[in-house]
Amino acid sequence: MGLSDFGNTVVGVDINEEKVRRLNKGKSPIYEPGVEEYLHRNLQSGRLRFSSNAAEGIRSSEVILIAVGTPMDTDGTADLSFVYQVADTVADNLNEFTVVVTKSTVPVGTNAAIRDRIAERSGKDPERDFAVVSNPEFLREGRAVQDFFHPDRTVIGYENEKAKEVLVDVYRALNLISVPFVWCNLETAELIKYASNAFLATKIAFINQMANLAETVGADIHKIAKTMGMDGRISPKFLHPGPGYGGSCFPKDTQALIKTGEQFGVDMSIIKTVVSSNSYQKERMVTKLLQLMNLSDTDSQAFAGKRVALLGLAFKQETDDIRESPALLVAKKLSELGGEINAYDPKAIENFKVEFPNVQYFSDCYSAVEGVDAVMLLTEWNEFRSLDLEKIASTVRSKFILDARNLLDITEAQKWGFTYQGVGR
Ligand code: UGA
Repeated sequence: MGLSDFGNTVVGVDINEEKVRRLNKGKSPIYEPGVEEYLHRNLQSGRLRFSSNAAEGIRSSEVILIAVGTPMDTDGTADLSFVYQVADTVADNLNEFTVVVTKSTVPVGTNAAIRDRIAERSGKDPERDFAVVSNPEFLREGRAVQDFFHPDRTVIGYENEKAKEVLVDVYRALNLISVPFVWCNLETAELIKYASNAFLATKIAFINQMANLAETVGADIHKIAKTMGMDGRISPKFLHPGPGYGGSCFPKDTQALIKTGEQFGVDMSIIKTVVSSNSYQKERMVTKLLQLMNLSDTDSQAFAGKRVALLGLAFKQETDDIRESPALLVAKKLSELGGEINAYDPKAIENFKVEFPNVQYFSDCYSAVEGVDAVMLLTEWNEFRSLDLEKIASTVRSKFILDARNLLDITEAQKWGFTYQGVGR
């Protein structure tokens, strides 16, 4: 869709025919702000279409983008089976010189393996007949459109000058707005992606640990993070404390990087600590709730029968994605403790229902909090910032709020009689 908007002719291929049918009608299979507007515009222009016929898509294209999932395997490595399936289909349908671009996040060495695999299966020459390029994606869910059209940088790992020329042409629109291009080898591009995600995950894990210390000693993490960020070397971004990072990227990419370290015998202890401290942070939200409610965290019966409203189920705002969301662990733990859950999220309820069919779901915050013993805010949806606390105070059974994203004003919460706890303040 974005590439088509740049003026390229694009065919999006997926094996799921229902998805293809919906996309051809301009309907996005996920909630992502702004996507459908661009879908409509580009479908109408005639430059964009969707198809379930991979062979035809490959034969009619000069550039193939591999953009399939690389989910976490049971041992923590990235599961590359979808990537290799696509590579095989490409090999079976190569005709003229084709540039095979990997957008999927793949461990170092994968692009070279794709090149060798295609060469072996097709009998074609990886210099003359095709080229492999590593072009990792840095867009964020919920901000994908903005990030695609205004990236901080575009990274292209390549080993063939002809492929470079083709990519310059594909991304000419970004060149025109002076987006920096980083040209490097395949391995460097692959590692840039993992290093970037792991570093951002590290920033979050770091600020969460600092937040835990700040709240214990009476300091304010927001002042600390803001002031740290005034130092240009640190930057204020990705220093918001919370219930731990989730999503389809940081959890899987940090694990995969640890596995890459093991594979090459290189110490990845920093990332290992980030992963374990993030799991701790998610669990800590449950401990904090029990402490806030003055309930023992060792007495297994203490929480039985309590009803909690979970506001926010998605792993972050502006998405319906619940993968590795802190809300999953919190819901599981509270259920294990014998608690009952009311839940509300503006977009993610349908996805959460699949994992937790027995939770009670509500179509707005105010019905979700009626009669509950505590309210937990887990996702930073904007609508939670302006909750009417007076209204909530009049319908809850007990006035406890655990605000895991620091969205509410403490004084306002206290004014309406709530026992309030944020993260790190
Ligand atoms: C992340 C990266 O930010 C993208 O650059 C990358 O392209 C993407 O992974 C990917 O590899 O595909 P995403 O997972 O969509 O993007 O979302 P983020 O905005 O990075 O948030 C990740 C998690 O960190 C969320 O749970 C969010 O709530 C949490 N977070 C983020 C914090 O707890 N504190 C912060 O300061 C920032």
